[in-house]
Amino acid sequence: MSQQNTVLVTAATGNVGPHAVAQLLQAGAAVRTLVLKDDPNIGRLPEGTEIHYGDLTDPDSLDAALDGVDGVFLMWPFFTTDVATAPAVVKKIEAKARRVALVSSVGVHIGLERVDNNCHAYIEELVEATGLDWTFLRTTGFQANALGFAEQIRSGGVVHFPYGDAVRTSVHEADLAAVGVTALLTGTHSKQKYLVTGPEELSQREQVRIIGEVIGRELGWVDIEHEAAKDAMVASGWPPAYADGALDYFAMITEKPELGSTVVADVTGKPARTFRSWAEERADAFR
Ligand SMILES: NC(=O)c1ccc[n+]([C@@H]2O[C@H](COP(=O)([O-])OP(=O)(O)OC[C@H]3O[C@@H](n4cnc5c(N)ncnc54)[C@H](OP(=O)(O)O)[C@@H]3O)[C@@H](O)[C@H]2O)c1
Repeated sequence: MSQQNTVLVTAATGNVGPHAVAQLLQAGAAVRTLVLKDDPNIGRLPEGTEIHYGDLTDPDSLDAALDGVDGVFLMWPFFTTDVATAPAVVKKIEAKARRVALVSSVGVHIGLERVDNNCHAYIEELVEATGLDWTFLRTTGFQANALGFAEQIRSGGVVHFPYGDAVRTSVHEADLAAVGVTALLTGTHSKQKYLVTGPEELSQREQVRIIGEVIGRELGWVDIEHEAAKDAMVASGWPPAYADGALDYFAMITEKPELGSTVVADVTGKPARTFRSWAEERADAFR
């Protein structure tokens, strides 16, 4: 256990937050979570956290949660820079904490995401300008993104999605969390911009094949066109420019696989988890 012992986790009830919280608790840290009032997913949080109701679009609502913290596991759950409170939130974190682990994106790593409209590049810039000990976790896609296929797998067994041949190095959310937790608790990864990935290259189509093997059903894949995919993404809340950016990225990694790294193993000392192990853990979601 390090000297640092009180950590606030934002966006705590998403895919990564519950893992970060569980790992921090297991390491003996005191854990606070920032949770929206009426969050329907609050049950995902392990027992033993101090829950603070607050909203990242209302910086003053973070005051009590930040009072006395050593570190922040910072996730900014917005697509673009349109949410104007980021500078004030980062300032508040700087005033109260020493360390921050920020979940960012591979898009920043390869220079695809423009600072003026993309949240990850923008938040990195804000955090980098502080005196905090920061660590950036520039992640590729989450293995949990495959949950987006779950309804189609359950209902018909054929996934209609763009770019089946896009080759991903998707990371297990628990591994991403572990890199951030290690950075926050040890303080030995300050000023690092880590590309955090899974251990293997798998196309989206191969991910679905593996899910099929795990649940004992043969599954299919049908590519849908860019425009149809974009319409669906926009209908589900993606800003149009961001949807185009994501689809262009899929097209790019169809030609050349997404980047991979050994950061998970290097930082945590444990091998990064495979997609098959993730699918085995989450098999019930696909049955
Ligand atoms: N998925 C990927 O492949 C990928 C790739 C690169 C980077 N990332 C980044 O990874 C990070 C974590 O992703 P995730 O899937 O674990 O979580 P997420 O979907 O980004 O965030 C969901 C969480 O944020 C909370 N939230 C939403 N609006 C909020 C607000 N105004 N104030 C406070 N909390 C709010 C949600 O609460 P409710 O449950 O109440 O809505 C929920 O707990 C994100 O920053 C994302 O940009 C993801």
